[in-house]
Amino acid sequence: MAKCCWLPWLIIILLPLPPCDGSSGADVDPTAGFAAVELTGDMFKLHKPYDLPPEQRYEFRDGVRRMWVLCSDRPFSPGSTTKPRSEILLNKTYTSGVWQFEAYGYVPSGTTGVSILQVFGASGRNTTLMLHVYGGRLMYYHDEARVVDGDIYDRWFRLNVVHDVAGVGKLAVFVDGERRLTVAGHGGYRHYFKFGVYVQRDPSHYMESRWRDVKVYTKIVD
Ligand SMILES: *[C@@H]1O[C@H](CO)[C@@H](O)[C@H](O)[C@H]1NC(C)=O
Ligand SMILES: *[C@@H]1O[C@H](CO)[C@@H](O)[C@H](O)[C@H]1NC(C)=O
Repeated sequence: MAKCCWLPWLIIILLPLPPCDGSSGADVDPTAGFAAVELTGDMFKLHKPYDLPPEQRYEFRDGVRRMWVLCSDRPFSPGSTTKPRSEILLNKTYTSGVWQFEAYGYVPSGTTGVSILQVFGASGRNTTLMLHVYGGRLMYYHDEARVVDGDIYDRWFRLNVVHDVAGVGKLAVFVDGERRLTVAGHGGYRHYFKFGVYVQRDPSHYMESRWRDVKVYTKIVD
């Protein structure tokens, strides 16, 4: 092939491919190439104020898990110095490979100063990733420079968190199928996901989040 003929080919190759599913051209489905992991009911472990029965801080109805907490609540175990929470520990631990959490979440307006999702397990610290809500914004911890959604209140949003454990690790967060964040991990060798409400900075008196269609995927490695 003559030299002059290469340029158009190069341009074609470098152009992003149009979506094949008739969608508007958002990112590809974050779960593409992943396989769903079977989750059983006993893997959903509720952490709630130790002095209250589950039904005072958790409800599972019509496929929706609703968790709420007050900033004045007790921690999840007597003697713990951690802040109050009503959170589900998804007891599907992983140590290597690429894993993904997917769910539809909902945060009612007014809920602030709270973590709604954690990737637990790290080296020299407890978590590899947390997503906090402050005044309607969803962000990486309390990092103002890493807001993953500017307007999270009062709507169902699709959340996908991909954790590539290898090496130092890296994570990607998608909201409504759109990649919003890519960050390095924090090491560690044993990980799992937690979701719900866990008090952080300047919390509102009442905090709540709702979740449905919670799934965990792992990457098919050929
Ligand atoms: C998680 O499951 C393992 C068994 O797979 C069990 O040994 C462990 O106690 C469970 N952890 C919690 C917090 O329930
Ligand atoms: C991890 O969390 C526990 C409370 O659950 C806390 O006591 C401990 O200091 C934390 N570890 C690190 C390294 O931050």
